[in-house]
Amino acid sequence: MQDRLKSVATMEKPKFKTVQEVVAAGERLSERYLLAPTDEPLNCPLPEMDIPAIDLSLLFSSCEDGQEELSRLHSALSTWGVVQVVNHGITEAFLERMYNLTKQFFALPAEEKHKYAREAGNIQGYGNDVIPCNDQVLDWLDRLVLTTYPEDKRQLKFWPQVPTGFSETLHEYTMKQRVLIEKFFKAMARSLELEENCFLKMYGENAIMNARFNFFPPCPRPDKVIGIKAHGDGSAITLLLPDRDVEGLQFFKDGKWYKAPMVPPNSILINLGDQMEIMSNGIFKSPFHRVVTNGGKERISVVTFCVPDLGSEIQPADGLVTEARPRLYKTVTNFGELYHKYYHQGRRTIEAALI
Ligand code: OGA
Ligand code: NI
Repeated sequence: MQDRLKSVATMEKPKFKTVQEVVAAGERLSERYLLAPTDEPLNCPLPEMDIPAIDLSLLFSSCEDGQEELSRLHSALSTWGVVQVVNHGITEAFLERMYNLTKQFFALPAEEKHKYAREAGNIQGYGNDVIPCNDQVLDWLDRLVLTTYPEDKRQLKFWPQVPTGFSETLHEYTMKQRVLIEKFFKAMARSLELEENCFLKMYGENAIMNARFNFFPPCPRPDKVIGIKAHGDGSAITLLLPDRDVEGLQFFKDGKWYKAPMVPPNSILINLGDQMEIMSNGIFKSPFHRVVTNGGKERISVVTFCVPDLGSEIQPADGLVTEARPRLYKTVTNFGELYHKYYHQGRRTIEAALI
């Protein structure tokens, strides 16, 4: 009885080990990270995808270059669902600062990082892959998740005090990103010849931003262990600072995997999420993507998920539903909830929204 009580008590307070701690302890690789023997090996060489660098400042110019840039945006988003963005208003030095502070955070001793440990039932905080069911293959990464906007949704107890400047820089980064995000939504609408606020209206005034700092330790079996399993993002759009030196991010198109290009330090990668695919009535794509592990090097990424207001009605924009292109998706109001359920089953949530 005593033992049972004790085990119930420990169950309530799950003690997790991050991947970094598993590696540091020199433990044998747990089966829980291994893909099924029938799965294709993950470390095969892949072709590189060809995505344009879009000049955000040009998208609003009325000259011919502006029109051309809009059509490049339209073309990339309707094929890959991903673009690199430059001239976005955030300096290269600032992006470097955010990135380097992330690196410093993950280099802290385990006890320091555990001060920000995620608690059961909360997505915010520091920890390993969320473990909702026992037979799920685990992703080889640790992460810190923080809701950064609206400010009243912040849980500041999870915001690192060390390294110095992390939290202030994250706040500043959030505010700078908001300007960029608004422009990007307007540009997407213009590229589809819609009124420029049409997506922003659905996205909402109090849309949520979730920052996720990903750390992928070097992995002993990069052929069999995945960094992040294949998924579409549940966001409207996702802003990504991938590792400057270590590749790993891959996108799926027409039945094949491609590796993402290394992006120069002044650019931000933006990929669309499922909710943007819905709003664009399937013209723009929410790409299926994954991260593979690396045998020798650690990898870091800084990701921001831009998620519509909870309860805001997300549906194909009126102007994009025609006789030739009937409405593809239902109206969804709380995509996040649906997303969680599907993600862990390895299914694409967007399919649940299909008419
Ligand atoms: C994600 C993701 C890519 C990366 O966090 O959803 O796809 O490069 N990350 O870390
Ligand atoms: Ni993703």
